[in-house]
Amino acid sequence: MRAAIILAAGQGTRMKSAMPKVMHRIAGRPMINHLIAACETVFERIIIVAGPGMPELERAVAPHASVVQAERLGTGHAARMAAPLLQGFAGDVAVLYGDNPLITSATLERLVATRETADLAMLAMRPVDPAKYGRVVQDGAGDVARIVEWADASEDERAISLCNAGVVCAAWTDLSRWLAALRNDNRQSEFYLTDVVGAARAEGRRNRAVEAPEAELRGINSRIELAAAEAEIQARLREAAMLGGATLTLPDTVCLSWDTQLGRDVVVEPHVVFAPGVTVEEGAQIRAFSHLEQCVVRRGAIIGPYARLRPATEVGEGAHVGNFVELKAATLGAGAKANHLSYLGDVSVGPRANIGAGTITCNYDGVNKHRTEIGADAFIGSDTALVAPVRVGARALVAAGSVVTEDVPDDALAIARGRQVNKAGRGVRAK
Ligand code: UD1
Ligand code: MG
Repeated sequence: MRAAIILAAGQGTRMKSAMPKVMHRIAGRPMINHLIAACETVFERIIIVAGPGMPELERAVAPHASVVQAERLGTGHAARMAAPLLQGFAGDVAVLYGDNPLITSATLERLVATRETADLAMLAMRPVDPAKYGRVVQDGAGDVARIVEWADASEDERAISLCNAGVVCAAWTDLSRWLAALRNDNRQSEFYLTDVVGAARAEGRRNRAVEAPEAELRGINSRIELAAAEAEIQARLREAAMLGGATLTLPDTVCLSWDTQLGRDVVVEPHVVFAPGVTVEEGAQIRAFSHLEQCVVRRGAIIGPYARLRPATEVGEGAHVGNFVELKAATLGAGAKANHLSYLGDVSVGPRANIGAGTITCNYDGVNKHRTEIGADAFIGSDTALVAPVRVGARALVAAGSVVTEDVPDDALAIARGRQVNKAGRGVRAK
């Protein structure tokens, strides 16, 4: 049994935000959820240390437990907050920082594997610009003697290129003892988590550093670093989508979400945005400049260019949704078509029905939303307004320009528009 403690009590001043830092989103979900997902494959228990007044964070990490660090007295102090929840815990515990969302499960696996060969394992990196990271001091054998914080380091220590990424792992029976004994007699008067490394060494224990690329271990402190992390995660998601059999014509222009599902032989043209909750089945095409959110696109359907699929939408097998068509809580049956300039909200459209250009479902009366039902093989003429609640039967035909306020029976033709009157000689030049 292994546990992870994720520290996330900091507000993240450099983000200049009303929201806790770890709640900022990457690929459609809070950065802390990316780290939790990486941890879930390696650790059976996960405990999050939140700051006071962060209910949204506690909700986002559920069902994992959270504890509150009332006063921000340092990373070691924060890790201690989890101790009451881990009383009697016999396995290994890792401590991680919530603002490190790029760490992969593979690296965490290497960390826990290294811990099997040493008393304490930690993650380290060699950043291009080591800046103010803690430095990892090694002995001649390559074991870690201690970590020295930049603020407390000598000139020689600051010249060390190996930096602390902020993840340590040890048996809880040891780690809890080292945490309890931490002192704050340093430049920043904080209880440093990093001092557990020196404490282990003082007991004659063996500490090993596991190196990983900076791209994976760098933390996020500003919105500039947040954008860089977004780019990194997007690159990973695109790669996974392509390896899974989807074609992304110009991958760098496609925005995916953490949970986007693209089936085999799906083709995604340039400049498409997938907000969370989208599944696209085999062979469907998502054409350029479309925006999709919480929807399912069935096999072989064609979406866009310039289509918008909003939540609770399902586009049936082989159906077509064309340019400037917006769908919300809409179900399109197999082979149905809505190819031009339409708003279809709170609607179910039967198989093979054809929705003419400019068709609008008038689903909102200012207070309530109402449903529209369109039967199989129905044909809705261009520029039709369907005033909901209303039902158009199977194989019914609605004349172009109609304002439909009453149900149309199966197989009927509905014409609901003013008759045309032509007045001779009353054209442009008439006086
Ligand atoms: C820490 C490390 C440093 C390492 C760097 C890597 C320590 C003492 N230093 O420094 O060696 O190179 O990370 O990024 O650990 N937090 C709390 N409660 C607190 C303090 C911090 O929950 O009282 C959380 C923060 O929200 C953050 C994480 O711990 O997620 C790290 O804290 P931060 O202040 O950023 O530590 P650094 O100074 O960056
Ligand atoms: Mg930091």
